[in-house]
Amino acid sequence: QTFKILVLPGDGIGPEVMSEAVKVLKVFESPERMFEIRQELIGGCSIDATGKTVTEDVKQAALDSDAVLFAAAGGPKWDNQRRGLDGPEGGLLQLRKAMDIYANLRPCSSTSPSASIAKEFSPFRQDIIEGVDFVVVRENCGGAYFGRKVEEETYAMDEWGYSEAEIQRVTRLSAEVALRHDPPWPVISLDKANVLASSRLWRRVVEKTMSAEYPQVKLVHQLADSASLIMATNPRSLNGVILADNTFGDMISDQAGSIVGTLGVLPSASLNGLPGDKTLKTRPYGLYEPTHGSAPTIAGQNIANPVAMILCVALMFRYSLNMEAEAQRIENAVRKVLDSGLRTPDLGGKAGTIEVGDAIISAL
Ligand code: NAI
Ligand code: MG
Repeated sequence: QTFKILVLPGDGIGPEVMSEAVKVLKVFESPERMFEIRQELIGGCSIDATGKTVTEDVKQAALDSDAVLFAAAGGPKWDNQRRGLDGPEGGLLQLRKAMDIYANLRPCSSTSPSASIAKEFSPFRQDIIEGVDFVVVRENCGGAYFGRKVEEETYAMDEWGYSEAEIQRVTRLSAEVALRHDPPWPVISLDKANVLASSRLWRRVVEKTMSAEYPQVKLVHQLADSASLIMATNPRSLNGVILADNTFGDMISDQAGSIVGTLGVLPSASLNGLPGDKTLKTRPYGLYEPTHGSAPTIAGQNIANPVAMILCVALMFRYSLNMEAEAQRIENAVRKVLDSGLRTPDLGGKAGTIEVGDAIISAL
């Protein structure tokens, strides 16, 4: 079997962390399983080389691949040149759109490798972190961030709308994630049905989709504001799949990130469905990226933390390549290295990017 992987290192620390992730990926190559790696430009480096933040060619390469690894894009050199879709970070937005990867997943678990450093770096008490285990699924292509906008001198408006179809597909994906656990995790859907019309549709469609198609998965509706309070005081009670629209999902996933770690260790996945989803009309696309940016001030010094990017490889194994056992092997190796104290400076250590990558490979 040969998997086609598109690798997009981007700008700043992107190439440094990506090169460690690709090293880890290659550990899993064998005569029976090959990775056909294609590396391309995105972001500032692509603007410099081609005049475009992402070319049509690269977008097509993404559609032809089994999964995409993306590191980070942008930096001071390009920040004031262009904005929006044409700016350095616009390449990622364009790619998201081309791949229609409408769901963004961020795992958060007290047994995740990143949680092994949470004792030292989480602002939360250890007894609050203990036993936390959930995945936030954020709708990432609709809602307030993509609606019609009015921007006048003294008035501004963002249209916050969802269609039934948009809600249905992200609900299905959440249920599929829930079903990957035995027994199935509950789906906890966030909304503000008490005040927002779009939330009332959200609740109705989630309810209908779940009871018709996933009766074996428990569904809980939770108001988004109180969810954020619970996340801070008793996050364990949100264990399961937390399903949220674009806005609430943005807030709750950043808040969730603070429970188990720091920017340099948190991976994310963007999907347009999971393998096995019968309603999918295309092949399932997945793009995996760390939650951090291009950290230009530390670029080129071999001090960036490669852990988030390496954990993206684990997520890619889990959600796109059907390699759960191998995903766990990476996560265990990362945990072992972090626990051993071999860490980059952002975690108080003295190790370099390459050293951490090498240590994770030896642990594997
Ligand atoms: P950032 O995530 O790049 O950096 C925030 C802070 O965390 C900095 O102090 C940085 O040094 C540190 N940091 C981040 N990742 C790290 C790692 N792997 N190891 C060690 N330290 C790490 O966010 P910031 O500073 O807001 O943005 C910097 C540039 O990145 C900007 O041009 C921004 O537009 C771009 N950006 C790109 C994103 C993307 O490509 N998806 C996402 C966020 C920002
Ligand atoms: Mg955010």
